[in-house]
Amino acid sequence: MYRTHTNGELRIENVNNEVTLCGWVQKSRDLGAMTFVDLRDRYGITQLVFGEDQSELAKSLGREDVIQVSGNVIERESKNTTIPTGEIEITVNKLTILNKSKVPPFTIEDETDGGEELRMQYRYLDLRRNPLQNNLKLRHQLSIEIRKYLDSINFFEIETPYLIKSTPEGARDFVVPSRMNPNQFYALPQSPQTFKQLLMVSGFDRYYQIVRCFRDEDLRADRQPEFTQIDCEMAFVEQEDVFNTFEGMMTYLFKKVKGIDLTEFPRMDYATAIEKYGSDKPDIRFGMTFNYINEETQNKGFNVFDQSEVVIAIVAKDCSTYTRKELDKLTDFVRRPQVGAKGMVYVKCNEDGTFKSSVDKFYSQEDLKIWANKCGAEAGDLILVLSGDKAATQNQMNVLRLHLGDELGLRNPNEYAPLWVYDFPLLEWDEETKRYHAMHHPFTSPKPEDMKLLDTDPGNVRANAYDMVLNGVEIGGGSIRIHDREVQSTMFDHLGFTKEEAQAQFGFLMNAFEYGAPPHGGIALGFDRLCALFGGQETIRDFIAFPKNNGGRDVMIDSPSPISSEQLDELNIDLKVKEEL
Ligand code: AMO
Repeated sequence: MYRTHTNGELRIENVNNEVTLCGWVQKSRDLGAMTFVDLRDRYGITQLVFGEDQSELAKSLGREDVIQVSGNVIERESKNTTIPTGEIEITVNKLTILNKSKVPPFTIEDETDGGEELRMQYRYLDLRRNPLQNNLKLRHQLSIEIRKYLDSINFFEIETPYLIKSTPEGARDFVVPSRMNPNQFYALPQSPQTFKQLLMVSGFDRYYQIVRCFRDEDLRADRQPEFTQIDCEMAFVEQEDVFNTFEGMMTYLFKKVKGIDLTEFPRMDYATAIEKYGSDKPDIRFGMTFNYINEETQNKGFNVFDQSEVVIAIVAKDCSTYTRKELDKLTDFVRRPQVGAKGMVYVKCNEDGTFKSSVDKFYSQEDLKIWANKCGAEAGDLILVLSGDKAATQNQMNVLRLHLGDELGLRNPNEYAPLWVYDFPLLEWDEETKRYHAMHHPFTSPKPEDMKLLDTDPGNVRANAYDMVLNGVEIGGGSIRIHDREVQSTMFDHLGFTKEEAQAQFGFLMNAFEYGAPPHGGIALGFDRLCALFGGQETIRDFIAFPKNNGGRDVMIDSPSPISSEQLDELNIDLKVKEEL
């Protein structure tokens, strides 16, 4: 037997027990007559004491060596109250070195000295650190509880294939050549969307899958090329049923995993979200909603506002004391190319009831008072104003609002504010291709009352589509689907598919709709994002055991990488021919 206990297990009650432990050497302290070693495993740390007779051997131990020790549990003289095993230590009478370790390239501690790239290269060492061990433990707990919840309400977990053909979710596909079918390719699923709909046609009624999805898109902190969805579909449901089911799941998860009661799950339509927050995923942990002050600002000689489609103001509570330097910094922030505002106007609502603004030349105290009233600003507050074209200004103000929210500590990672955003537009204009694209995906149903606009005003057709948002992060998205062949076919027409193209790509789905497809709908939640939020962090990478870096590479295994010419031959891929073409 390698071990009788783990390193997180022994307590004062175990004093006098003979035990055998295994683990990694966290650190060792040589006090002359005695050597102390911290032995670590997933469960914790236990202190070992080596007497003088073993000191030579003990001193030879290096960080991260894997050892086995046998010895006696004794009470510590100076107790460590910060760890559960801190009352005891082991006097070692037998030490076996199971495997020596090279000096690790960075310290295996909560705060390590290793840089990002180095840690990615030695991911297996980074994963030994507590923060990452805890993240993956959280991920495990969440996946268990999700399965319990969905199982308790009759969902079946059903696997769908990874070698498929393109499913349009708005990104590029990763493709896999087929040896047996020369010059033909599988695509890896961007999501199991069409399969889950087919499972509804098959009568499974409630399906879920914690499933890997693949999207070749630009990466960010909350995006990986392969990521995991909690993918769900239900038959005979309306939007309200989907909301209730997944509000239920989130409430259950927060209670079970974090001990938090989610009391509210508000809803907001897409148009309101854009109007008040300039975002389809508003962070509603704090206010600072948009005020449109066009009327209040016109015809006073300030051309910038006069010529703007919108003038939007937000109020930063108790910030009238912002210095010139701080305001300049905010202006620089909004003028960065990534944000793109031309400038920013401020109004300080002084404690004495007067106003100080960057546009005092054009606006009187009386004018500024009208602005303040319109925005609900009080003495001591700061008003910040951006103007320009509507969509761009809303977008810029969203960035400024979130930035201020961060600066003012209003985005507490331990506070959770979920939100449904619904009534998304069905279609989205794409400047590049000069075509409408499905904003969610082409299987999403339009709102019946908006169907008449499909020909005349397609951009204003609303969809039965919704997102689940948590703390300003899009956690999930879904819709009520089209289940009628004719409607689906019309949708493909509007998306610019010819009948032949639609039949070639999605004929299997439209055919299935002719054999008794029930009304159905569903949602997919981003599991990595959910884990990160539960862990109070923004970066999903630290909640994935072996993630890719920002360039889409796994630097540990060095992938992607070239393959041999034999493999290429087998796959009928002739790179030279392609180059010559
Ligand atoms: P959607 O494309 O909105 O919907 O994806 C659902 C959720 O998956 C997460 N997500 C990602 N997470 C990490 N890295 C990525 N690259 C990434 N892309 C998406 C997000 C997102 O909200 N088939 C539909 C769902 C449906 O209609 O039922 C779909 O995939 O949290």
